[in-house]
This record gives sequence, structure tokens and C-alpha cells, in this order.
Amino acid sequence: MKYSNKKKQFEERMIVISKNLLTISKTNEQEKKKSYHISSNSYIEEKEKTKANSKEEEFIFTIVIGKKSITCKMQDKGEYDKWILVLRNILKYSLITDCYLLESVISKISFGEIIKGIHKESGKEVAIKVYWKEKMDKADLERIYKEIEIMRECLHPNIVRLFDVYESKKKIYLIIEYMKGGDLFTYLENREFNIIEKRANQIMYKIIKAIQYIHRLGIIHRDLKPENILMTDDTDEAEPKLSDFGFSKILKPHEKANERLGTILYASPEVIQGLPYGKESDIWSLGMVCHLLLAGYLYFDDDDNEKIMRRILEEEVQYPHFNWLSVSDSAINLVSKCLCKDPKKRITIEEILNHNWVQKAAKSETSNIISPQIIAQK
Ligand SMILES: Nc1ncnc2c1ncn2[C@@H]1O[C@H](COP(=O)(O)OP(=O)(O)OP(=O)(O)O)[C@@H](O)[C@H]1O
Ligand SMILES: [Mg+2]
Repeated sequence: MKYSNKKKQFEERMIVISKNLLTISKTNEQEKKKSYHISSNSYIEEKEKTKANSKEEEFIFTIVIGKKSITCKMQDKGEYDKWILVLRNILKYSLITDCYLLESVISKISFGEIIKGIHKESGKEVAIKVYWKEKMDKADLERIYKEIEIMRECLHPNIVRLFDVYESKKKIYLIIEYMKGGDLFTYLENREFNIIEKRANQIMYKIIKAIQYIHRLGIIHRDLKPENILMTDDTDEAEPKLSDFGFSKILKPHEKANERLGTILYASPEVIQGLPYGKESDIWSLGMVCHLLLAGYLYFDDDDNEKIMRRILEEEVQYPHFNWLSVSDSAINLVSKCLCKDPKKRITIEEILNHNWVQKAAKSETSNIISPQIIAQK
């Protein structure tokens, strides 16, 4: 086949792959060989059907081995397919399109998009978070790798599962559990932000369990909001799951974070002030989500970000009768403990789980579990 490295033109070469060793030699000079060890970080870029001129077709692939890249060109499609198959096998490498159908765009995001896909073998629906690497700098990329690392760590019924990751030269694909109910904000919008307290209690309990799980692992979410909580479906029994770990961080026991990020409407006073902060900031955001579920509005919503930030720092949350008439004192008590401006005095996730409003949901959850003996008696 014809071969080229970056500096040279294509030349006729003999290429042999034996185990993980790739050897290139001139067809008549076996002794002048170049050998490359193909490791698990090597990959291939496939460029099928590039036209050499108006008539001839050619098939090109590049094998990237560390900093080296070897580009091979051939005219015969059958020969090309054989090479690709052998290489994919050695590199334990497959293209996303080998395994998934990419169907439609669910949502645009800052550096890419969320696509609905289908796993070809099982027919299962998945969500694919696609990042376009060319739009991102080094720090953005590191954030994505952190998001992947954290999602891989999280195995919880109320956290969306990351099934797999694909990476090509230009894109990173995260294959995620598909949540057909969409996000909690839209779910509430569909119900005119008016759900009964019992339902708010059930939803909050599941989110609180997910936060307890990540906080125990030393992970802070840092972008807790209804848009990052996804619903299994759009019914009144739908389960919420925590999603979008794009801003999450793993903290050592007494370590604090200091990056000012997240979403202002849900940001804690310490994040807004630029102070070092910890898991307590997630609790503030959780309080804001709970406020929205119970009262149907966001307390610090305002026309500009400056005003929102000033109000978060200075204004105490009030619970006017008009909006909170049908809400229990116990629920209001929990929200006010989450929205305590001093992070040191703010309720912790373990204390939240022991709070009587949350215990109510925990108890009704256990009473729904029927033991096999009881089923047998029925
Ligand atoms: N697994 C999923 N199933 C269904 N819909 C999803 C899924 N993941 C994300 N979405 C939809 O896409 C939206 C954006 O996804 P996500 O929150 O992960 O991106 P993002 O990191 O917030 O994007 P940005 O970079 O713009 O902040 C979600 O609010 C939700 O509506
Ligand atoms: Mg998001």
C-alpha cells in the first residue's frame, strides 16, 4: 500500500502487523524496517472515499501512535475494510456509529449538544452528550475529563448512569441513561409550577438521597438546579435523577473550593462573595430547588444579575401566607434551614435526612415495600 508520515509524500511500502507490533519496510528492502508498538492510546482516523482526482477513488486511514502518525492510502475498498477491521480489533476500538444510531438533537449546550441515540444491539434509548473539542481550551477539556471521572464513580438509583465514553480527534461522546421526562424545570412548567406538597416531598427525598451519596464520596455538585435534575417520564409518578456533573469537584475532607461558578439564581452567598466554600453550597441550592417545588417561584428572581446577587447576600427569605398557605410548617422549616446565609450554621445533608419533613417521605417509601411473605398471603 502507499504510506506517508507527515513530512513525506506517499510512497509504496509494505506494512505488517504482528501482535501489537507494526512494521514498515520498503517492499524490496526488508532489512530497513521501522517498527512501532501499538498501545491502547493509539487510535485510527478513518477517511473513507476521498477523491484523488475526478475519476479515481482512494481510501485513507491514519494510525496515531503517541506523537507519530502514519497515513496509509489504497485504491481497493476490500483491502481498506480488512485493514480497518484488523486495526480496530488490535486497538479494541470501535466507532460510536458502530454501536449507536444518532437520532435527534435534544438540547444545545455551550460546547456541543445532547443527542438522543439508540443502542443498536439492544434497541435501548440513550442520551449522548457530545462535546466539540475544537471549541474548548485546556481547562474546559480537563473539566470534561473530571465530569467523566465523577460520573463513572456514581452508581445510585437517583443519579443518571454513564454507560460509556467515546473519543475521537474532534469530539468526546458521553453515553448516558436516557431520561424521557426531560428536566425538572420543564416538568414543573408543564404543571404550571403547581404540585401538591406530598409530591414535592417525594421528589425532594430522592434528590436528597442522591446528594447524600455524592457528599459521602467527597463530591460537590456545584450546579444544583431543576435543569440538572432529570425525570424518568412525564407522569405524576416519575422519579428524579441528579445529572450534569460538568462543574462537580472531588474535595478532600477539609478542602474548600474557590471557583465562582454555577448558576446565580441557585448560588449560595459564600460562592457569590468569592469565599472558599464546601458541600454547604450544594445545600443552599437544594433549598432553592425545594422552595421552587413548594411555592412555585424562585425567591431571588430579578431583572439583572447584580440585583439577584445583592438580594441573596442581604435579604432574608420570607414565606408570605399568600404563596405558602397550603404548605406545612415542617416543610417551611426545612427550606429556611437550607437557606441559612451562614454556611457554618446551615443544615447538613445528614441532618436533612433526619428532618421530620424528609422522614415523612422516607417512611412512606418503606411502607410501599411489601415483603414476599405478605405478597404470598394476599
Ligand atoms: N440523559 C438525558 N436524558 C434526557 N435529556 C437530557 C439528558 N441529559 C441532558 N438532557 C437535556 O439537556 C439539557 C442540557 O444537558 P446538561 O445539563 O447535561 O448540559 P450542560 O452541561 O448544562 O450544558 P451547558 O454547557 O450549556 O451548561 C438538560 O437540561 C436536559 O434538558
Ligand atoms: Mg446543565
